[in-house]
Amino acid sequence: MKKHLTKYQGFLHGGDYNPEQWLRYPEVLKQDIEFMKDAHCNAMSIGIFSWSFLEPEEGKYNFEYFDKIVEDLTSNDINIVLATPSGARPRWLAEKYPEVLRVNADGTKQIYGARHNHCYTSPIYREKTANINTKLAERYKDNPGIILWHISNEYGGECHCELCQEAFREYLKKKYDNDLDKLNHAWWTGFWSHTVTDWSQIHSPGPNGEPEYVIQGLYVDWKEFVTYQTADFMRHEINAVKAVTPDIPVTANFMGPYQPLDYHYMSSFVDVISWDSYPEWHSGRGNEHEAYTAAFAHDLNRCLKHQPFLLMESTPSLTNWQNVCRLKKPGMHKLASLQAVAHGSDSVMYFQWRKGRGGSEQHHGAVIDHNGKNSGRVFDDVKNLGITLEKLSEITGSITKSDAAVVYDFTNKWAIDNAQGFINDGNRHYNAECKNHYKEFWKRGINTDIISVKEDFGKYKVVVFPMLYKVSEETIEKIAEYTENGGTVVFTYISGYVNESCLCYTGGFPAGKLKEVFGLVNNEIDSLHENQTNSVKMGDKSYTVHDYCELTESTSAEVLAVYEHDFYKGMPAVLKNKYGRGEAYYIAARGSGELLSDFYETLIKKLGISSYELPYGTTVQTREDEDKKYIFVQNYTGSRQCVNLKEKYINMETGEAAEECIELEPFGVRVLCSKL
Ligand code: GLA
Ligand code: ZN
Repeated sequence: MKKHLTKYQGFLHGGDYNPEQWLRYPEVLKQDIEFMKDAHCNAMSIGIFSWSFLEPEEGKYNFEYFDKIVEDLTSNDINIVLATPSGARPRWLAEKYPEVLRVNADGTKQIYGARHNHCYTSPIYREKTANINTKLAERYKDNPGIILWHISNEYGGECHCELCQEAFREYLKKKYDNDLDKLNHAWWTGFWSHTVTDWSQIHSPGPNGEPEYVIQGLYVDWKEFVTYQTADFMRHEINAVKAVTPDIPVTANFMGPYQPLDYHYMSSFVDVISWDSYPEWHSGRGNEHEAYTAAFAHDLNRCLKHQPFLLMESTPSLTNWQNVCRLKKPGMHKLASLQAVAHGSDSVMYFQWRKGRGGSEQHHGAVIDHNGKNSGRVFDDVKNLGITLEKLSEITGSITKSDAAVVYDFTNKWAIDNAQGFINDGNRHYNAECKNHYKEFWKRGINTDIISVKEDFGKYKVVVFPMLYKVSEETIEKIAEYTENGGTVVFTYISGYVNESCLCYTGGFPAGKLKEVFGLVNNEIDSLHENQTNSVKMGDKSYTVHDYCELTESTSAEVLAVYEHDFYKGMPAVLKNKYGRGEAYYIAARGSGELLSDFYETLIKKLGISSYELPYGTTVQTREDEDKKYIFVQNYTGSRQCVNLKEKYINMETGEAAEECIELEPFGVRVLCSKL
């Protein structure tokens, strides 16, 4: 049975709607509704930044204008995604209750301004958000047009105020069973004589106190606490609306592999996953790069609940905060939007409906431009996409099946980037390396899940763990068990170095049993300067490697590749070990794309994972339900491409039988289906 995310059974198409900015222009508000219908938009997110309009003075509410907006949308069959307004606070709130303002890591207190910068711990902020959320919920609880709660906006950042410090200490007391000795051991505070003798001495990391890089355990605990406290605040907001409208699902718009928050934790408290995607199409990195980067993030979001998600924001045109604000070339709007759908989205939503005349986002792409017209390239793209989504509506609720998984661990990223050593440029390119491995599946048209270490690996033919620097004993056990039972795992350099508190494992890397799983020990790691390379020989081919070269020694593994230069010439660089009924691969150096490409070509064939032979820059993704399969064929290049699917399907937009060879125009996309 198909499960829809909201009670609306089709693709949501629409976006952020900020009528507050236009209250002086009633004719514009009227036109908005007319244009929304013309654009085949059926959903609007409202209220995101409405607090100072809804509650202009403390405890004095004004819902009149909002009633009208809600009524106009509802009576025109435009679904409402109703936001709680905590993302930006009214001035009166900050003036009267300064505790709601954030304190920066260096101890300086912020003054009123901007957005997304309140204290998550402040009892007053919690009280005030609960009040306004309750009022909103009570006012609109019976309105049939409201299909989803949009809780706040893009939670992020951290506060270092005294309230947060105290909450952090309480969090640690629980974590370390009230035992300072445990904490001192986990944080290795003997280093530089930093022993903690009283809980009150604990303070968040900051540039003029304990810099982030000094005590790794403190740093990852702080990051973990920030996620915990943000989620706690989010839950507080959710509780307020759920108390009144228990049947309306809730979402919070996430930001993809956004480093500061662990979405694997956050996601458990919302009903529906949604996220905001802003790829840099047509940038110097090339669209293939942008495409698999966006695909990776879509898959990450899809796998947060292993169900469809919502694309809550994307731009219909340009993104004003990117370094260079390029337009989407013809075709790209449809392609990028259907890419999200291909990877599991049941919506295409935009930031934003209409460009505001002022404010920093006045030049951000929007459906309606400053010319105020329901025509032009961008509007037509949006409208045509709306028509297409209506034709594809049966796809909503369908799921994605994957044989392959790449593990992405937010907390590992914190640990890896904060370590001192390796290449100290503050970025060990963990995300990039996860995407490099993912790309090898993507470019062969293989559905791939992006999962956390906590998931069941058993359902996959292969699980890839790029740079799993920080690994718990529990995860080590799981990896060993999965491999023993016939699974295939791929590991890379800089894996299995530290435990959850970032203490190095003793007894050789990778940690504990992983040495048996991979049949090797990694004795040292060499980091290379930017212009330095080594190479490895695999079969009769030589491959460039850069950045990191681990000096490994096989204990039982078969050596698939060896280094060709430097004093470690001849040492193993790629290894394969049989462990139980499974196989464990270890890639000890950061390879060029070619090394990974050839490595995965062989592995994917060996595992019998079905794949396509695709021209560069194209891909295929599938979704399915009980009796149908949906195939999305995508071309991210600026030239025509032919994709041979070796099977005939129905073109869902035309209803006609498609050729086996799909001819795609530049930035073209085709959605096909077949009975299962
Ligand atoms: C984010 C925010 C929006 C808007 C867009 C602009 O995603 O949630 O309010 O600022 O960025 O790209
Ligand atoms: Zn605070």
